[in-house]
Amino acid sequence: MATAIIRAWILSMILQITTLTSLTAAVLPFGHLGPENTAIFLNGFHFLSGDTTAEISANHWCAILSDDFLQCVVYNTATTPSRLVGIEYIISPKAFECLDFEERQLWHSHQYEVTSGFLIEPGMPSSVDYAIMEVLVGTYGKTVHTWRYDQGNNSIPIGVPELVMGYTGESQITPDFVKERDELFGVNTTAIRESRKNLVAPPVIEGADSWKYGYVLTYGLVNTTTDTAFNQSMNATAT
Ligand SMILES: *[C@@H]1O[C@H](CO)[C@@H](O)[C@H](O)[C@H]1NC(C)=O
Ligand SMILES: *[C@@H]1O[C@H](CO)[C@@H](O)[C@H](O)[C@H]1NC(C)=O
Ligand SMILES: *[C@@H]1O[C@H](CO)[C@@H](O)[C@H](O)[C@H]1NC(C)=O
Ligand SMILES: *[C@@H]1O[C@H](CO)[C@@H](O)[C@H](O)[C@H]1NC(C)=O
Ligand SMILES: *[C@@H]1O[C@H](CO)[C@@H](O)[C@H](O)[C@H]1NC(C)=O
Repeated sequence: MATAIIRAWILSMILQITTLTSLTAAVLPFGHLGPENTAIFLNGFHFLSGDTTAEISANHWCAILSDDFLQCVVYNTATTPSRLVGIEYIISPKAFECLDFEERQLWHSHQYEVTSGFLIEPGMPSSVDYAIMEVLVGTYGKTVHTWRYDQGNNSIPIGVPELVMGYTGESQITPDFVKERDELFGVNTTAIRESRKNLVAPPVIEGADSWKYGYVLTYGLVNTTTDTAFNQSMNATAT
């Protein structure tokens, strides 16, 4: 698959970007380089499963583990230091096809995220960006957000991890939310969209983007406690 070629390109790019780190750091407080082996920096949008109005701007640092699998750490936007707010797994269409129907419902397609210009690689030369997007357009992501930093829970991560999805069409996201992102990174989503208009997007495989078909899936804490000596033990340790 094409990802092998892309991996080679990316490695050479990373070397170049590394030498530019001090320069880019002045522009982007969160930089291009994440943990070891991180090859791609992506900004895109998520929303809480079950609530398309809960818009989140997500910064992904992704490592390529195989032709079928990438893993990404997700950080919030525009703070220094950046907060770790989630995880995204990205798989090839070939891998997605092997999943059963229930599992598929947890995944979102990247078709529209790529063709819309929502998914960007700030600072990546356009020819490399295009080659990476040619691969990503056919992939699927499963994403969990562990910190709703955007909801004012911004000193301590409160609550339980949440399933998020990706946008799949026009008018699902607030235009100003995209504008804000564009201003932050100095990009133009409309121009990026136009630059990708010849990109071949394979059809979305059945089962992804389940929310579009009315499925409302959220993670939650399952509490099967029947009895607890919690207060008693608190007293015991306090004395
Ligand atoms: C934190 O986020 C959770 C989940 O979004 C919300 O229910 C809760 O009210 C928030 N708490 C604070 C202190 O903002
Ligand atoms: C973004 O690009 C589009 C299409 O190239 C152009 O019409 C528009 O004026 C640009 N917007 C900004 C804010 O530069
Ligand atoms: C779980 O259930 C127990 C028993 O009802 C309760 O005391 C406890 O606070 C619950 N924990 C959470 C995190 O909801
Ligand atoms: C345990 O402690 C909490 C917090 O002080 C209190 O609200 C609750 O009523 C206590 N439960 C029992 C069973 O004593
Ligand atoms: C824990 O300590 C508080 C305060 O000393 C006391 O009121 C309460 O009864 C104790 N709870 C238990 C379960 O022993």
